[in-house]
Amino acid sequence: MNQWTPQSWQKCSVAQLPDYPDPDELEDRVAELAALPPLVTSWEVESLKEQIAAAGRGEAFLLQGGDCAESFDDCSVDSITSKLKILLQVSMVLVHGSRLPVIRVGRMAGQYAKPRSNALEKRGEVELPSYRGDIVNRAPFTAADRTPDPELLLRGYEHAAMTLNFVRALADGGFADLHHPEYWDLDFLEEAELAAEYHQIVNSIRESVEFMEAILGREPASLRRVDFYTSHEGLSLHYEQAQTRQVPRREGWYNLSTHFPWIGMRTAELDGAHVEYFRGIRNPIGIKVGPDMSPEWLMGLVARLDPEEEPGRITLIHRMGADRVEEALPPLLRAVQESGRFVTWCCDPMHGNTETLENGRKTRRFDRILAEIRLSFAVHRAAGTRLGGVHFELTGEAVTECIGGARGLAEADLERAYRSRVDPRLNGEQALEMAMLLARQLRS
Ligand code: PEP
Ligand code: CO
Repeated sequence: MNQWTPQSWQKCSVAQLPDYPDPDELEDRVAELAALPPLVTSWEVESLKEQIAAAGRGEAFLLQGGDCAESFDDCSVDSITSKLKILLQVSMVLVHGSRLPVIRVGRMAGQYAKPRSNALEKRGEVELPSYRGDIVNRAPFTAADRTPDPELLLRGYEHAAMTLNFVRALADGGFADLHHPEYWDLDFLEEAELAAEYHQIVNSIRESVEFMEAILGREPASLRRVDFYTSHEGLSLHYEQAQTRQVPRREGWYNLSTHFPWIGMRTAELDGAHVEYFRGIRNPIGIKVGPDMSPEWLMGLVARLDPEEEPGRITLIHRMGADRVEEALPPLLRAVQESGRFVTWCCDPMHGNTETLENGRKTRRFDRILAEIRLSFAVHRAAGTRLGGVHFELTGEAVTECIGGARGLAEADLERAYRSRVDPRLNGEQALEMAMLLARQLRS
């Protein structure tokens, strides 16, 4: 294999590559980005890798969640705090249910690029490049907006930095304090049974905290803050490359734009540019695994991306769909098992369960999402492997994008508050209810 460098991917065929009209300008913007400071540090990245390995061994549980796509407009107090709140709430419910440490990873501070099945979008007689996320081009249907603009790589970095700065301040500064879970109450939690069960969990945690402090005779500092990590699909390789750095006293290269980048299902070709790029970074990485991935393909990826067989390096995020998981997952579990390799398994119950309604709306049904989680646990149990985490698209806001849940959202409700530009997310109540059902599953 050729020598790896942060730009060696450019010699491979690149799926999902935006067509930047001016290569010189692109090169200048990438150089500018490469001169800016990193967003995360290598020791955070290494610490997360160790924790992900623990999740693979069943000693922790990975919770990854956030928007399908962040937009620059979402870089606001309300949007960031409500996402952090719901992730904290869901994680507390999971800690309570599983009695395991929960690793909190947001799809946040960099989730700005989206893969598209069609490079072009046609409206009437006009055909323009598809919208590929705020870091690539702009959503309005005009030629100027849809032309990929390298300047947006820098805007993406800035919005990621602002988001992360606020998240870090909140996570460190008392907002995540276990003595004050009311700080992360969501104002619209009205579904009575759900609210009651949630407050019971919160009270039980509060009592445990008081009990522990009484025993210790002091207050453990660790109860006042939480670790919070970021992740995004490593799709825009110009962005990822520019943030790939060497650091003093450690070997190799780190992608310091995020802790945990993942390879999307549409860019997982063994000889493609994305796999080439990911092979050279030291971060823990996710690989989305769909129902059409063969055991040979999967094992080829694992071998290429984890030659040193390092625990925590690879998380396989399966997203089969409730209908296909029982048939598609077992051969993959068997292949990994037979290879004797260690990976962390995570279930994304969202992306295999997307459907398009007659009016063109994309939605997902709460029951199908839950079914895929339950079936995944069962398939892992039968195979003797372990499901170490879940990956959700969710928001703390009261959107109406997914059907079902305790409040019984129906098709007709979707028009009321459908805000996602891409995939439908669980709203705060649906996410919390899902967490409670998942916690029960983890307890058993
Ligand atoms: C996503 O996570 O938003 C996504 C596009 O997923 P996948 O690559 O699994 O389709
Ligand atoms: Co999505």
